[in-house]
Amino acid sequence: MERRDCDAIVLFGATGDLCYRKIFPALYQLVRRAILTIPVIGVARQGCDVSWLAARVRESLKTFVPDADEAVVTRLVGLLRYVDGDYNDASTFEALGKALGSAQRPLHYLAIPPSMFPVVIGHLSGSASAAGARIVIEKPFGHDLASARALNQTLHEHFPESSIFRIDHYLGKEAVQNLLFFRFANSFLEPVWNRNFVASVQVTMAESIGVAGRGRFYEETGAIRDVIQNHLLQIVALLTMEPPVNSAGESLRDEKVKLLKAVRPAAPAQLVRGQFNGYRQEPGVARESQVETYAALALRIDSWRWSGVPFYLRAGKCLPVTATEVVVDLKPPPANVFGDLAPERPNHLRFRVGPDVAIALGAHIKRPGPVMTGQDTELYVAQHQGDGMDAYEVLISAALIGDTSHFAREDEVEAAWAIVDPLLNGAAPVVAYTQGTWGPAEAERLLLGPCGWHNPGAKPEDWVRSCFSPAAPTA
Ligand code: BG6
Repeated sequence: MERRDCDAIVLFGATGDLCYRKIFPALYQLVRRAILTIPVIGVARQGCDVSWLAARVRESLKTFVPDADEAVVTRLVGLLRYVDGDYNDASTFEALGKALGSAQRPLHYLAIPPSMFPVVIGHLSGSASAAGARIVIEKPFGHDLASARALNQTLHEHFPESSIFRIDHYLGKEAVQNLLFFRFANSFLEPVWNRNFVASVQVTMAESIGVAGRGRFYEETGAIRDVIQNHLLQIVALLTMEPPVNSAGESLRDEKVKLLKAVRPAAPAQLVRGQFNGYRQEPGVARESQVETYAALALRIDSWRWSGVPFYLRAGKCLPVTATEVVVDLKPPPANVFGDLAPERPNHLRFRVGPDVAIALGAHIKRPGPVMTGQDTELYVAQHQGDGMDAYEVLISAALIGDTSHFAREDEVEAAWAIVDPLLNGAAPVVAYTQGTWGPAEAERLLLGPCGWHNPGAKPEDWVRSCFSPAAPTA
């Protein structure tokens, strides 16, 4: 198919936090790489002009790209245009049309609160700026299955699915893409990648930070909506989907959807929700808040490949480290020839998907000496990212050329919501935990078999198999 590149970027929410923290630094890098040469039009209701936007961009780069090259910054600032106005007002969109000038294929990036999506989409669709356009939508995409469906319907009234790019920034991460690559670019994994060899799978997304001033947002979200419905289920899908026919966006998405549809809707009895002590004192948080800052759950995939294999997912704020890891435990060998195999220390594959990239194969080797006894080790590969692209660089550049493979399709987000829908709205009581611990001890009860939770280390080569050592005391 002929590639149709966008010829302008329109940033709705240009004065917001997302642009400041993520999008401006990504645009800088794309200019530096000579990928971005088209106009960037900021839209906001700020009562200001393009020089204010330019100052905002410079301030963002000072913080997030401290070694930015002034020549590149000047090039980026030279691409900026600004439209000031209310999103409810049709004249804002007329002004946008003028600012777009001769551009035929704009990329409209909606970095705005979800409540404003329908308003902006409605105005855009009635304007000349919609023809040939692409729409980038930030998460959260809905707050449950019904609202995600409604939002998809609104979008489809105005734009075809092929023009809609739903962001899950984990799909732009090098390490997440490597999960897919590692699985399907090698032949040694496939024979063991199924219920006959895999005992269980754990995915942990730990963050040492709290809600970082986003208490109001978090009150409406909680860990399940914020990261499990999207980032963690995307990781599970890439880890467990069938081989795609090729690497094209639709082939990948077809397989992910098939997998997500095979995941049994989660059971509230298989959920532990936690809240760190001190959360209720955060600005914007209710004193009696029941919102979870931690969630652990067990899932089952009813597929030929994965039937019977438990999948454990866990995400939390104020945990001891910031790290996301997948650990796939394999079943033991059929006989314990040397008499020293411990069921709680099986062979494993460990994928470190953040903040660094590493893959490790956990194996037993002979301990040096006269006795045939073993010790555990990892065959370990760490990838240094060099001049690798940040997730937002990957995603913006992909949307500009119309590559859908790193974005979530309509049926994909809906299938993911269908999995977590039974867990929303306080499906389990919220248990307090102490900041800097691994969350409520109750999460241990979810695990079947001899292994406890695998706690990622601060460094990619360090990790701890908890083997039912008591988790953090419940506060
Ligand atoms: C975002 C969540 O989607 O991902 C945040 O809203 C979370 O709560 C963030 O902190 C984590 O992203 P990363 O790239 O730092 O792992």
